[in-house]
Amino acid sequence: MVKRISIVLSLILLVPVFAYGEDIAGCIVCHNAMAGKIEYNGKVIDLNVDARRFEISVHGAFACTECHERFHENPHTPADNPVTPDVKKLSEEVAIKAKADPVALAACSKCHEDEYRDVLDSVHGRNVVKKGKADGALCLDCHGSAHYITKKNDKESPVNRWKVVETCGKCHGNEKLAKEYGIAKHVMNSYYESFHGKKYILGHKRAPTCVSCHGYHDIKSKDDPTSPVFGTNKIKTCGHCHKGANKKFVAAITHKDPGPIPHYAEKGLIILTMSVIAFTVLHVLLEAYSDIRDVLFRRRKEVEHEEGKGYSG
Ligand code: HEC
Ligand code: HEC
Ligand code: HEC
Ligand code: HEC
Ligand code: HEC
Ligand code: HEC
Ligand code: HEC
Repeated sequence: MVKRISIVLSLILLVPVFAYGEDIAGCIVCHNAMAGKIEYNGKVIDLNVDARRFEISVHGAFACTECHERFHENPHTPADNPVTPDVKKLSEEVAIKAKADPVALAACSKCHEDEYRDVLDSVHGRNVVKKGKADGALCLDCHGSAHYITKKNDKESPVNRWKVVETCGKCHGNEKLAKEYGIAKHVMNSYYESFHGKKYILGHKRAPTCVSCHGYHDIKSKDDPTSPVFGTNKIKTCGHCHKGANKKFVAAITHKDPGPIPHYAEKGLIILTMSVIAFTVLHVLLEAYSDIRDVLFRRRKEVEHEEGKGYSG
């Protein structure tokens, strides 16, 4: 409590003046000036909301309370404003993913109903809602902070074409997580090592990213018959870019473990080189031996011949 008051007091002096509507300004005067992270209910939260970045985000015109429905104007305690019933229900289902305000995390559904439904029904959403885990991805895991979301094609967006692979990789590069869910642990490597991944790194505009094959909000397990990478569904998935893709073409397994194959190939090459050298050396030695033997043999013959002469004479 003492700490909170001191933070607040130290802010009052720093408060810049912004041309916001009252509903945003009330919150942002404090939160723009607040620097640093605090521990809140056992989780680390960042109190700072950068006013300029918020303003240029897709949600920059909204009141903070559009998402933080429970909050009043300045000051915000107690946070007990009435909450839209659907949002309240959803907030309980996704609470495990929230750090400070589950209502804000559920509020996206008011305006992005379809996206939210798809995510909840995906392998990621089910992980949260059905399994009660916090490992699956929800909106902010892919879109970044709720306060600075930009259009999907913006160069800052973590879901744009050139960043989305890295965004999926935050979790899919984690071997412990893969092991826990029985997912192949090398999907990132196998992508980067694949023909597609190599083209992507080189900046090829048509090379597929993770979402070209898996989708994004409605990602399903590879064993789910509705997954775009399940069985013959791949004909359509690959067919977007490879005209005339057939059953045989799509059987080219995309996440085949690249690990041991190049490894053994390299080992094999070393063994082969060593064998060639060893063989050459052995060959030279044998040749030399046979030469020496010939010489010695000839000498002995000559000696014997001489000695024979002696006896007979
Ligand atoms: C007088 C300064 C001040 C104003 C104005 C203010 N806050 Fe805060 N806010 C704080 C402080 C200090 C904290 C640190 C956590 C705490 O002590 O509750 C905080 C924490 C938070 C948190 C995270 C913790 C939680 O309780 O969920 C959210 C979300 C939040 N504020 C949103 C808002 C919104 C939305 C508004 C406008 C309706 C607002 N704040 C207005 C000072 C302020
Ligand atoms: C588009 C919806 C949306 C708007 C608008 C919004 N927030 Fe948030 N805010 C969120 C979400 C979602 C979270 C994350 C909640 C969680 O994880 O518990 C969050 C978290 C926070 C936090 C806690 C920080 C953290 O690390 O989680 C603070 C403080 C906060 N918001 C303040 C504000 C202020 C001040 C404004 C207005 C300038 C604002 N928010 C506008 C959705 C929004
Ligand atoms: C009050 C309505 C509202 C709420 C609540 C809201 N959004 Fe939005 N969102 C919008 C509008 C309006 C746009 C801009 C659409 C446009 O300009 O075409 C937008 C844009 C977006 C975009 C960018 C879309 C694109 O074209 O690339 C994303 C991503 C997004 N919102 C995610 C979220 C998330 C996550 C939350 C919850 C934390 C949320 N929104 C809460 C109304 C809302
Ligand atoms: C697994 C990662 C992931 C999750 C989780 C996720 N998104 Fe997205 N979202 C994306 C990607 C990737 C795109 C851009 C796709 C593209 O390039 O067309 C996107 C695009 C969007 C768009 C723009 C419209 C569109 O379909 O292109 C909106 C709005 C949006 N997301 C909202 C949300 C909301 C709300 C949530 C939470 C319910 C959410 N997203 C969860 C990855 C994700
Ligand atoms: C916050 C971490 C996180 C992020 C970010 C994330 N995922 Fe996942 N993903 C998971 C977890 C955890 C599972 C396993 C869930 C389960 O089985 O309950 C999973 C499962 C999957 C599966 C299903 C695997 C199977 O069983 O066949 C696919 C496909 C997938 N993710 C693709 C993606 C793609 C593509 C992206 C980026 C757009 C992405 N993920 C972003 C955590 C994440
Ligand atoms: C060219 C299409 C394609 C691309 C690009 C792609 N995948 Fe896959 N993915 C597949 C197919 C097909 C499967 C089904 C299993 C297999 O063939 O290995 C799969 C399976 C998976 C699985 C489940 C693996 C398992 O066996 O448990 C995960 C997780 C996954 N992909 C994540 C990703 C991520 C993350 C990316 C981006 C780095 C990505 N995929 C890029 C086609 C693709
Ligand atoms: C988003 C577009 C896209 C998707 C989806 C896609 N590919 Fe590709 N693929 C490419 C591009 C681009 C290349 C590189 C072509 C080049 O430069 O010659 C490529 C190259 C290949 C190659 C190397 C040989 C060749 O034909 O050029 C194979 C094999 C391949 N893809 C298989 C697949 C399979 C199997 C799938 C589905 C699981 C798939 N691709 C999905 C765009 C895609």
